[in-house]
Amino acid sequence: MLYRVRIHDRRTGQDYETQVPGDHYVLESLEGLGLNLPAACRNGCCTTCAMRVRSGTLDQREVMGLSPALQAEGYALICSSYARSDLELETQDEDEVYHLQFGRYFAQARRRWWQWRLPLDHD
Ligand code: FES
Repeated sequence: MLYRVRIHDRRTGQDYETQVPGDHYVLESLEGLGLNLPAACRNGCCTTCAMRVRSGTLDQREVMGLSPALQAEGYALICSSYARSDLELETQDEDEVYHLQFGRYFAQARRRWWQWRLPLDHD
C-alpha cells in the first residue's frame, strides 16, 4: 500500500510531497526518490533522522533510540519506521531530539560525577 507523505525541511525551507510504500522504511523510500534528508546510523539509534510528526501514524516498533514518551509527543525516527497512514512530517531542529532523548541525562550524569569527587588519572 502507498501512503502520501508531505515533508517540510526546516533546514532549507523546502516542502516535498511524494508517496512511500508501507513495507519499506520511510527514509529508505524517500532517499530512493532522491530526497536528501538527515541520517547517520540508519538503525534507529542516533536520532539524526528524527522528524516531527504533524499528522499520521508510523510503525516504530524497530526504533531503539526514541522513548515511547517522545514517540507519543510526536517524534519519529524514519530510518526504522514504516508509514501506516498518510503522513505530514517536519525535520527537527539540529540536536533537538538527541537532547530530549539523551543529552539531558548525560548532563545529569556529569553533575553527579563531579559531586562524587571521583579521582581522575591526571588529578
Ligand atoms: S539515522 Fe540514526 S536513528 Fe535514524
